[in-house]
Amino acid sequence: MYLVVEGRKKLKGKIEISGSKNGALPVLIASLLTDKECFIENVPDILDVKTTIELLQFLGKNVEFKDGNVLIKGGIKRAFAPYDIVKKMRASILVAGPVLGRKKKIKVSIPGGCLIGPRPINYHIEGFKKLGAKVEIRGGDIILSAKNLKGTKILLEYPSVGATENLLLISSSIEGETVIENPANEPEISILIEVLKMMGVKIEKGVSCLKIKGRKNLKGFKYKLPPDRIEAGTYFIISALAGENILIKNFPALHLDSLIEKMKEAGVDFSISEENLRVNGRKKLKSVDIEANPYPGFPTDLQPLWTVFMTKAAGKSIIIDNVFPTRFSYIDELRRMGAEVVLKSSGCEVKKSNLVGARVRVPDLRAGAALLSAALIAKGRTILEDFYHIERGYENFIEKLKGIGARIWIE
Ligand code: EPZ
Repeated sequence: MYLVVEGRKKLKGKIEISGSKNGALPVLIASLLTDKECFIENVPDILDVKTTIELLQFLGKNVEFKDGNVLIKGGIKRAFAPYDIVKKMRASILVAGPVLGRKKKIKVSIPGGCLIGPRPINYHIEGFKKLGAKVEIRGGDIILSAKNLKGTKILLEYPSVGATENLLLISSSIEGETVIENPANEPEISILIEVLKMMGVKIEKGVSCLKIKGRKNLKGFKYKLPPDRIEAGTYFIISALAGENILIKNFPALHLDSLIEKMKEAGVDFSISEENLRVNGRKKLKSVDIEANPYPGFPTDLQPLWTVFMTKAAGKSIIIDNVFPTRFSYIDELRRMGAEVVLKSSGCEVKKSNLVGARVRVPDLRAGAALLSAALIAKGRTILEDFYHIERGYENFIEKLKGIGARIWIE
């Protein structure tokens, strides 16, 4: 199966943003901290959510997913995250924290390589060790066990999103106070904190630290996920590239400051009102350099899309990613579409280019979104292989794009 896109159609109309993917995953996993009922609304129907549900069910939870609502009941019956699930989604490692916290043991397959660059989990493991866990590696699995876990101070060498979430999850279920110094500050961390507080955990945000007082017997929760800031950013860039008068509904402007500033610099004509953003169009685009950094910096997840955007800007732009410095696997594919882009030691340099349709392979989720946006502005037909990567993170993207006039279908 391939995704086919006929480029250069003027896009126009309305597009609505779904619930946050990277907010949904840790919130679904937080249900492992209790046997009580948990209910989550506005959950996007995407592959990563389905994989997370499959993992929760494997661990023993009873999960129903219908019309954007997830109901989770029951307890943990197994303390094992198998390779078949972990290899599909690296965020599976997040079950280690809550299961270790409650069951005092867990075996998790070590996630394999990843196309956005090396993705070690050493900060997660170092944190677990500080809390009193023993770590063994056997047969491709990490085996974590502990007689006694106790809150303590953990300094993260780098503000890793996943490590912060895993440590928040484990410390919510153990006695004593845990202090995470230099935690990640992404909006998805605030989502998880809000849910953990609903469950009865005491969490204080200090200056560059989080103080967590966990407890046994946490409560269930009911929570509605906010809109996905990366999906919103993706459609903002697509609208600026190929659209005229597009209304993006449920646009989380508060969490996309860095993108909004860069869009203004580039010369995009847009307006924000309440929860919506309207892209009126653009005149001549100016080249704007970006450097992806931890929040509130420019999001690494939008970095590949910005590269495509800059193929329409006058002059040349430099794109650097300080979060995943080698997240440029899409460049070779983009070049096949005529993009003048070269890899530099710390990023890439892109020049104004005329894109033409080609057969390309999608290497990962956001690279897929970038190639898709390139296809929308390219002359002729683009065929995207392995487009399932895009389905991991974008709900109904084919229908949403068709809804604003794109010519896109599966063959
Ligand atoms: C989360 O990944 C997101 N995933 C990513 O989104 C996002 O790109 C990333 O945060 C950064 O914003 C989810 O939320 C499910 P990190 P995560 O730990 O947690 C290094 C998408 O497309 N590091 O903050 O894996 C790591 O190699 C996905 O939706 C270590 O060295 O990101 C990277 O260079 C992709 N050791 C940097 O830190 C560790 O133990 C940031 O990683 C952990 C991380």
